[in-house]
Amino acid sequence: MASVGRVDTTSARMRPAGAPDEPAVRRVCLLTGLAGADASDRHADPELLGMVWAAPYLHAPGAVALVVEDEEGVAGYCVAAADTAAFERWLEADWLPPLRRAHPQGSGDTPDDAALVRRLHAWPRAEPALVVAYPAHLHVDLLPRLQGRRWGRRLVEAVLTELGSRGVAGLHLVVDPANTAATGFYERLGFERLAADGGGVTYGRRPLG
Ligand SMILES: CC(C)(COP(=O)(O)OP(=O)(O)OC[C@H]1O[C@@H](n2cnc3c(N)ncnc32)[C@H](O)[C@@H]1OP(=O)(O)O)[C@@H](O)C(=O)NCCC(=O)NCCS
Repeated sequence: MASVGRVDTTSARMRPAGAPDEPAVRRVCLLTGLAGADASDRHADPELLGMVWAAPYLHAPGAVALVVEDEEGVAGYCVAAADTAAFERWLEADWLPPLRRAHPQGSGDTPDDAALVRRLHAWPRAEPALVVAYPAHLHVDLLPRLQGRRWGRRLVEAVLTELGSRGVAGLHLVVDPANTAATGFYERLGFERLAADGGGVTYGRRPLG
């Protein structure tokens, strides 16, 4: 778990991310993908988790993507879609078709890979009422070496500021309830708990900026 409040003495810095960052971003996604812990043991395919949850935002029109990197490389990211409904349309039209061809229904060599494949073939839509009030959504993940040094706060606040400057009214996100470090973090950042169900805990923040 993050040791909260550590002083950051590293050379880490934040910068906009692009397509060349995709392998590093996918790696961070895998190494933090099990309710904040390393998900490597759950996946025979080390790329699929990141292809589902993080890489699309490096390519989607209008998405916001920041990475934080230090002397060892990219160690965290915050990625967001400004308009979740438009993002989902882009996923269906551009991102998911080649992934579906590469990962046919029923494939996946571990239960977690198989679950990702099911998701690829039946991507759930965000609730319409939620995306009216909170149209954007984000994901933030940091490797342990940069956790607890306020990079999470800096990344999320920079993304919220960018979205706010574009006139986006609000943002939502969904957290695995097992990830109590993350729920504590979002609550500290002023996110409001909107709902909790089998799909996770939904938080919202509005206005932005
Ligand atoms: C969750 C995560 C993004 C938080 O980022 P972080 O850099 O470790 O957190 P920060 O140091 O920026 O903390 C920001 C604030 O939240 C507070 N905070 C952090 N974790 C907290 C917790 N578990 N409970 C209460 N407050 C917490 C900090 O004290 C700090 O408060 P302050 O800035 O007002 O003094 C990061 O630890 C992480 O990536 N974890 C693994 C992956 C993950 O779980 N991602 C989220 C998936 S939904």
